Amino acid sequence: MRSNDQIHFCPPARVVLGCGTRSQLPALLARLGYRSGVFITDTFFSEKTPWVREYIEAAEALGITTIVFDGGKADPTTTLCDDATALIRAQIGAVQPDHVIALGGGSNIDLAKALCVTIPDGKPVAEFIGVLPNAPKALPLIALPTTAGTGSEATPGAILIDPSNATKVAVMDNVLRPVIALIDPEYTYTCPPRVTADSGVDALTHAVESYLTLDSAEFDRGGQVDPGYSGRSSLTMMFAHEAIDLCARYLVRTYDDGSDTEARIGMAYASHYAALSYGGAGLNAVHGIAYAVAGITHETHGSTNAVMLPYVLDAMRSVRHDELLKVARLFGIKDGDEARAVKELPVVIRELIGHLGIPTTLATFGIAREQLPGMVADALAVTRLAKAFPVADVPAAYASIIERAWLGQLGD
Ligand SMILES: NC(=O)c1ccc[n+]([C@@H]2O[C@H](COP(=O)([O-])OP(=O)(O)OC[C@H]3O[C@@H](n4cnc5c(N)ncnc54)[C@H](O)[C@@H]3O)[C@@H](O)[C@H]2O)c1
Repeated sequence: MRSNDQIHFCPPARVVLGCGTRSQLPALLARLGYRSGVFITDTFFSEKTPWVREYIEAAEALGITTIVFDGGKADPTTTLCDDATALIRAQIGAVQPDHVIALGGGSNIDLAKALCVTIPDGKPVAEFIGVLPNAPKALPLIALPTTAGTGSEATPGAILIDPSNATKVAVMDNVLRPVIALIDPEYTYTCPPRVTADSGVDALTHAVESYLTLDSAEFDRGGQVDPGYSGRSSLTMMFAHEAIDLCARYLVRTYDDGSDTEARIGMAYASHYAALSYGGAGLNAVHGIAYAVAGITHETHGSTNAVMLPYVLDAMRSVRHDELLKVARLFGIKDGDEARAVKELPVVIRELIGHLGIPTTLATFGIAREQLPGMVADALAVTRLAKAFPVADVPAAYASIIERAWLGQLGD
């Protein structure tokens, strides 16, 4: 405990985690009184795995009817959400569903979160973007993540792309947090190496970034009584520390050998623990700058975070020395000179990212030097993340981090 912590923690009401736990879901939903559901997924799961059919049949036998929408796409757009809303509402007719289930990675879970607010009245999702004065009416969501991962099964936000300007927009409210997060690590066994690497490094970024972010006592909640994010606390840091330890042990192993089930299970825990940390504490510079990187490169969420992570850690050496030392030790850095150990951490993380087949500088990501000032401006424009970066001069820090990430410069 830290005596000045200001904790506002909204975990899922039920976390069900373990190999094979997916078989428990129909009986659990029946016991909770759910009768009519909408199941959001994509064609990989409906056509290439037995998981959708198995669930539907078992639920049906217990009196739960379910409509399947398998039109989920990676990085869903607001248009996809509105089209899905119309299609699903046409199918359900007069019977309002009483729950939504999402099976997939962060993309399908985010689409389902947005649908939880659009299905009841058929309104366009644009009406729910940004901070709303009152919590929107939302169907309860049951999230079944198949990547390890985004941790979207424990966060308040749905990230969608607005196709009119290709930017990411967020529907964000604590009512969007899934009521049940069912994490069956076996769902991740079919992830190809690229998805394993991108989603795994996303989990590592969530854990480290939230471990180092602004303290809850200093966090600006913007006057909200039910904030989605509210800074780090002893509670969130406990989950972050455990998640970092698991990523240090298992991230490379899952990428090198996707059939390493111990490593897959380890990363499933890591991803969820990281979400229990960042889903309350929030994030800062890595994600803030990654949005600008994605705006130019259109590369995946995980890889655009990964390229920035070492350079952001490097910039935090003076403000977060003690925490970085703990992270360094978890990554096996044994140097008895603490300053040297902390300095070595970004180098080790950058080697890990390179091992995962992700570019380690902005230049090798295809970004031209002339684009850097625009990136600084775009990253600073994500004020909710910039405000949580715990350094005195955020604009100067962002400019330096972006410059050094382009050059590939770490250390003094
Ligand atoms: N809401 C949040 O809190 C939050 C946090 C981080 C990221 N995100 C969002 O999540 C998305 C990224 O999610 P992601 O990294 O989980 O990937 P994803 O959901 O975009 O999936 C990527 C691809 O992998 C496939 N896939 C997923 N699981 C698989 C499995 N088990 N076997 C085989 N293929 C599988 C999918 O079908 C898809 O084609 C981005 O849109 C990002 O913005 C949301």
